[in-house]
Amino acid sequence: MSRERPVPLIGDVTSAAERHHDPTGWAFPAVEQDALDAVVAARRDVRRFRPDDIDQTLVDQLLVAAHQAPSVGQSQPWRFIVVRDPQTRATAAWLADQQRLTQADQLDEASACQLLDLQLEGIREAPIGIVVCCGRRTNPAGVLGRATFPDADMWSCACAIQNVWLAAHARGLGVGWVTLFRPEDLTSLLGVPDGVETLGWLCVGYPDERQLAPGLERHGWSARRPLGELVMTDRWNDAQPPAPPQSRIAAPTAASIVAARDETDRFLTPSVPSACWTEHSTGSSPTLVRRSHERRSSSSAATIQSPISASAHTRGR
Ligand SMILES: Cc1cc2nc3c(=O)[nH]c(=O)nc-3n(C[C@H](O)[C@H](O)[C@H](O)COP(=O)(O)O)c2cc1C
Repeated sequence: MSRERPVPLIGDVTSAAERHHDPTGWAFPAVEQDALDAVVAARRDVRRFRPDDIDQTLVDQLLVAAHQAPSVGQSQPWRFIVVRDPQTRATAAWLADQQRLTQADQLDEASACQLLDLQLEGIREAPIGIVVCCGRRTNPAGVLGRATFPDADMWSCACAIQNVWLAAHARGLGVGWVTLFRPEDLTSLLGVPDGVETLGWLCVGYPDERQLAPGLERHGWSARRPLGELVMTDRWNDAQPPAPPQSRIAAPTAASIVAARDETDRFLTPSVPSACWTEHSTGSSPTLVRRSHERRSSSSAATIQSPISASAHTRGR
């Protein structure tokens, strides 16, 4: 004998009994699962784009996908700026170039050359840029789930971006996510008001590359780590912390150490003369020697060993 469901639930047409008998009843057919897995695995950060225009219908589909993302407290903090204007794209590309140069200046020499060689974005070439913005003017305490994790609004926007990325690839489009900006440069370029942050720039277009592996991996910059190294069971496992990513920041030069120390001295004691330390080469490694100092006895000639190697020193960067 069949009975009417005792409690009608909005939208859910299944009963507890049905769910008990068929827990996987809302799974998608295997072919669709495979398609989803394939899109997730094949998604790439694209840096080379063809100039072909993108039909507005496709752009709208990407935005619909973005808008279906989960968001903290269903706050939907995202706003999307679709940039087609070539001049704005050219300025954004120039801003990214500036940051690439600045970043290269902080790296060791080999990494700096590699960074400058890499094509890191296709802002000029991609016919469309989508800038995802996050409205942050709402008090986090007023949003369910944000009082405790105030940045959850930004994570929500990142979920929207992932939806765009996957929806684009499934349709033959490519997306490149570029954060090589000073955030204030991007907000000022696009007239984004205070209290709204951007999450960078999404280049969107038909790709002029169909890579199977991440660009940074192909260029030997980084590699995907084995999943097993990153998964723990039940609690953080301190016994096997994952190795930190390789640092490419250049070691400080003797000159920069001298300058930083002088700066500190100047800050703490305004009467101290500007050049307190001088370089003195003793065999293999350079030494920093304290110059005569008006506040201390010059008889206690202080020397400190530079933490840098002689070869790093002679590089002069
Ligand atoms: C939050 C975020 C910011 C990123 N910013 C940049 C960027 O500024 N420039 C760039 O070349 N790639 C950027 N990427 C792309 C990554 O370099 C890329 O995802 C990574 O190398 C892995 O490659 P894949 O996306 O093809 O798997 C960014 C990715 C994410 C998730």
